[in-house]
Amino acid sequence: ATVPDLAGRRVVVTAGGTREPLDPVRYLGNRSSGKQGYALARTAAARGARVTLIEANTQLPDPAGVDMVHIGTAIQLREAVLKAAADADVVVMAAAVADFRPSEYATGKIKKKDGREPAPISLVRNPDILAELSADRPRADQVVVGFAAETDDVLANGREKLRRKGCDLLVVNEVGERRTFGAEENEAVVLAADGGETPVPYGPKEALADTVWDLVLQRLG
Ligand code: C5P
Repeated sequence: ATVPDLAGRRVVVTAGGTREPLDPVRYLGNRSSGKQGYALARTAAARGARVTLIEANTQLPDPAGVDMVHIGTAIQLREAVLKAAADADVVVMAAAVADFRPSEYATGKIKKKDGREPAPISLVRNPDILAELSADRPRADQVVVGFAAETDDVLANGREKLRRKGCDLLVVNEVGERRTFGAEENEAVVLAADGGETPVPYGPKEALADTVWDLVLQRLG
């Protein structure tokens, strides 16, 4: 039986990937399925936490016993995260957030015939929600966890990202054409701001989720 070691804790998890609209029919998106975030939400609920799951563009059914917030874009994700984080013990940012969004939204479908080549699409930076939340925590004892998908120099890039973002834990995994995205299994290293490094062997996304909650529990007061 699962031990309710997260009973009385409020956790926020983000899952999926943001989509940044260009016009009524097109968006800039990414390949995140949301499965890892959903596994985090399910395992936290099973361990007794009160869970808010902020979902971006997944095809997954709402898990039982979890408060859902459905959003689409990075700007909407930021608003939902900052609101939910206000009374959370833990925030886990598993969603893939678009780094850029189109600087303008065309209210009518962009036509090939009005286009020059290359297409004049300009992008602006999205806010970095994880960095912002880590730097400006609504509660000093809040534990903040990020994810990083890397294709090369996974550990070195992960350590640098952990410092830059300012979160407590960073779950780093290697991604590629056939790895991680949409899969049921995952392999990762969890890096901690206090220097800890926890490798998690290839296995179900639930197993990685449980390791993340174990490491979070060690850091909760
Ligand atoms: O910088 P990178 O996108 O690799 O960082 C990934 C981590 O940062 C994830 O936890 C993601 O949810 C978060 N992130 C964010 N806001 C952004 C970009 C990423 O919160 N604009």
